[in-house]
Amino acid sequence: MRIFLDTANIDDIRRGAAMGVVDGVTTNPSLVAAEGVEYRDRVLEICDVVDGPISAETISETADEIVEEGRRIASWHENVVVKVAMSEAGLAAISRLSAEGISTNCTLVFSANQALLATRAGATLISPFIGRIDDAGQDGMEVVRESVQIMETYHLPSQILAASVRHTRHVTEAAIAGAHIATLPPKVLFQLIHHPLTDVGIQRFLADAAKYTPV
Ligand code: E4P
Repeated sequence: MRIFLDTANIDDIRRGAAMGVVDGVTTNPSLVAAEGVEYRDRVLEICDVVDGPISAETISETADEIVEEGRRIASWHENVVVKVAMSEAGLAAISRLSAEGISTNCTLVFSANQALLATRAGATLISPFIGRIDDAGQDGMEVVRESVQIMETYHLPSQILAASVRHTRHVTEAAIAGAHIATLPPKVLFQLIHHPLTDVGIQRFLADAAKYTPV
């Protein structure tokens, strides 16, 4: 499973990228607004740090407008993936952008049936929002499992990207469910590094190492 960072914070992206574990980045209007920066400038900065798919979201509402905005966003950098929200207009736009060879990420997916429509439209990436599904009292991971199974049964090329990840257990479960990618808030990525026994183990080794002359 590839790991993406779900943020527009450039310091966190640099920190994650330095560990060599970040394969791509997803952004959305809320994440960019939280940074108080221009969308295009920040996406280009991210492209300089991470050499992988960088999702940037469209905000238009008609198919024609989404296609036009998507073309514009795609022209920013070769690694940019155009994020389009699931809707009738969104699907029409995805199929047109995909016919032009533009990579797309169908976002705000909450059911396997929506994932099926997104893949038929030609979406490169499909993003079920695990945490928000859990919040609604359903099992977000089940949507990931079913969507992956549909892609595998019919040998469909779309990749399932587990989004709206809220905690470290979501990461393990997404990997077991066969998600191709999980996009993690920085906090969750950095939490993955730690285990109480690892941290205690390091302290113990350091204390013992102080008893001899370092090499
Ligand atoms: C995915 O691409 C979205 O940016 C993100 O995962 C949304 O998650 P949230 O539910 O934490 O806002």
